[in-house]
Amino acid sequence: MASTLGPVGIIGSGLAVPTRVITNDDLSQTVDTSDEWIFSRTGIRERRRLDAGTDTSDLAAAAGARAIDNAGIGRDEIDTVICATITQDMSFPNTACMVQAKLGLPKGAAFDLGAACSGFVYGMVTGSSLIQTGRAKTILLVGADALSKHLDWTDRGTCVLFGDGAGAAVLRAVPEGFGLLGANLGCDGTGGPLLLRTANGREDGVPVLQMSGREVYKFAVRIQPEACEAALNEAGMTIDQIDWFIPHQANIRIIEAAVQRLGIPEEKVLLNLDRYGNTSAASIPIVLAEAVADGRLKRGDNVLLVGFGAGLTWGSAVIRWY
Ligand code: UT7
Repeated sequence: MASTLGPVGIIGSGLAVPTRVITNDDLSQTVDTSDEWIFSRTGIRERRRLDAGTDTSDLAAAAGARAIDNAGIGRDEIDTVICATITQDMSFPNTACMVQAKLGLPKGAAFDLGAACSGFVYGMVTGSSLIQTGRAKTILLVGADALSKHLDWTDRGTCVLFGDGAGAAVLRAVPEGFGLLGANLGCDGTGGPLLLRTANGREDGVPVLQMSGREVYKFAVRIQPEACEAALNEAGMTIDQIDWFIPHQANIRIIEAAVQRLGIPEEKVLLNLDRYGNTSAASIPIVLAEAVADGRLKRGDNVLLVGFGAGLTWGSAVIRWY
């Protein structure tokens, strides 16, 4: 085991979303809602939905393959797979094992990480620690979720919010001054009942996502700035040194509240919520992969990530892009 304790960064990224688009107008055919309500309350216009026959691991593998290509390395260099997800194809084997098999990756460690919408940031910190302690050298970290499988499609309070997708990153040691500079992870388990998958209260006994939207909203507005400030402190940085802010894409009003509290200029905020809705653990890495692909995110840029979700969990990270 060669412990490095040096910095760990992202050397490649990629994304995959289903081709099937569900617009707000589509949803207004099946539940009592409208494009006007959904867009003005959330910022979402459309989202993607898996077709029958494809599953979370298919999206995760597709995003993973793109991230490995984008990193310019061989698949044989990946020694560990971490899949942040709460919508596994099945309870076992885990999704990371399926990704390893689908991509023909080496037979190293593979495990899922369940921290809901904070999962990618949790995975970034976990993966970074594995590399720093010498347990791993090159990690494929995927955030993948297909909440469409677990929604009550008659509940207008939840079914309009979520979409399916996957985003992936390849983690490896990077030169001093780059990579993960600060982070903050946390959870308030007493908030668990506010957002969960359960059959409670349902005559059909089918477990579905149930949420106290207002309560989660208030939690998110409070926790995002706090978590960001903690990560910035650890990095020894101030908000004006941040080039790009990538918040979890759940609701534009929650993002605007954080942006205002933190004092981040609007042009530094990366968004794709209008096109994909809330893709849970995939939301942050999908934005990252898009910003890399379109050239906005460049070497040396300081990026601030923040996620929150079921748990209630949260996670923030400051990364200097390599
Ligand atoms: O990754 C974390 C996941 N969770 C979140 O990010 C959720 C955080 N919460 C939210 O984003 C917001 O609370 C929601 C978007 C879920 C709801 O927005 P809101 O402004 O908090 O609305 P509300 O729940 O207070 O509902 C206002 C009204 C209600 O009608 P009444 O009781 O005032 O007559 C709802 O029944 O809006 C109604 N409503 C809808 N109307 C049309 C709720 N959903 C819909 C809908 N279309 N889709």
